[in-house]
Amino acid sequence: MTVPNIKLNDGNTIPQLGFGVFKVDPEKTAELVAEALRVGYRHIDTAAIYGNEEGVGQAIAESGIPREELFITTKLWNDRQTDAAAALDESLRKLGLDYVDLYLIHWPTPEKDTFVEAWKQLIELKKAGKVKSIGVANFELGHIEELELNTEETPAVNQVELHPYLQRWRELDGIRAHGIKIESWGPLGQGKTDIMEQPEVTGPAEAHGVTPAQVLIRWQLQNGVIVFPKSAHKERIAENFDVFGFELTEDEMAGITSLDRGEDGRGGPHPNDFN
Ligand SMILES: NC(=O)c1ccc[n+]([C@@H]2O[C@H](COP(=O)([O-])OP(=O)(O)OC[C@H]3O[C@@H](n4cnc5c(N)ncnc54)[C@H](OP(=O)(O)O)[C@@H]3O)[C@@H](O)[C@H]2O)c1
Repeated sequence: MTVPNIKLNDGNTIPQLGFGVFKVDPEKTAELVAEALRVGYRHIDTAAIYGNEEGVGQAIAESGIPREELFITTKLWNDRQTDAAAALDESLRKLGLDYVDLYLIHWPTPEKDTFVEAWKQLIELKKAGKVKSIGVANFELGHIEELELNTEETPAVNQVELHPYLQRWRELDGIRAHGIKIESWGPLGQGKTDIMEQPEVTGPAEAHGVTPAQVLIRWQLQNGVIVFPKSAHKERIAENFDVFGFELTEDEMAGITSLDRGEDGRGGPHPNDFN
């Protein structure tokens, strides 16, 4: 199975499908990431706040996979926006790495008014070779424009809540127009919704002989989005990677797109209100 690579605006590439480890128990992280690597994932999405960077690092070290074949993302937590160099050093030490492929500002936390300062620090960390690419998560277009107004660098990606119940294509296309790739978090609705029971999802699943989760991942891939579903179950980790043997038709894609609930479909906080 070949995962497509997506080219970022800084010339680097990212595997379009990865494995996310939000809420993966730190005690189980090494084992589950090792399984993901065994199955074929090469892109892992973690964050300082997840508390499991050490487990990710252990799996990487024990895998024997050459570092350059892996794509590792971690994120700067909100209370370290004025202290990014030290925060990244802590993440690198826990990961056992001397660079990460992608470092993200986790939330803009607009009330703190420090995300531009954080971005300036990330630019320096990239120059120093400690990160290959830099980006943001949960940024609205206005926040991104503030970065562009104050620095010379546009984020490579914006990682946002994105699934059939919360789509915001107009906003996301506005962000893409800046050359920024969109990453989806919560692609399966974080296990908190009935999205996998909707006929628009179960119908295509039956038609293609796949599972609703595979349909949801495929919908993201065919929308050109970078996606890294999380699972704490080994069989699901394999299932979620096995999404390149079928293609959703235009009608099936449109059916899933019709499930959009706008802001009512949001599962996490709105980025403007999360401080
Ligand atoms: N930047 C941010 O603010 C932010 C926020 C949230 C997440 N993220 C990133 O995005 C990644 C993905 O989002 P997420 O973890 O929140 O949610 P998600 O991937 O949408 O959903 C994970 C949930 O779906 C279940 N699941 C996974 N595979 C399944 C399958 N094949 N069939 C049925 N159920 C399945 C999981 O259960 P089991 O684990 O029990 O299998 C879990 O309950 C995260 O891990 C993290 O890396 C970023």
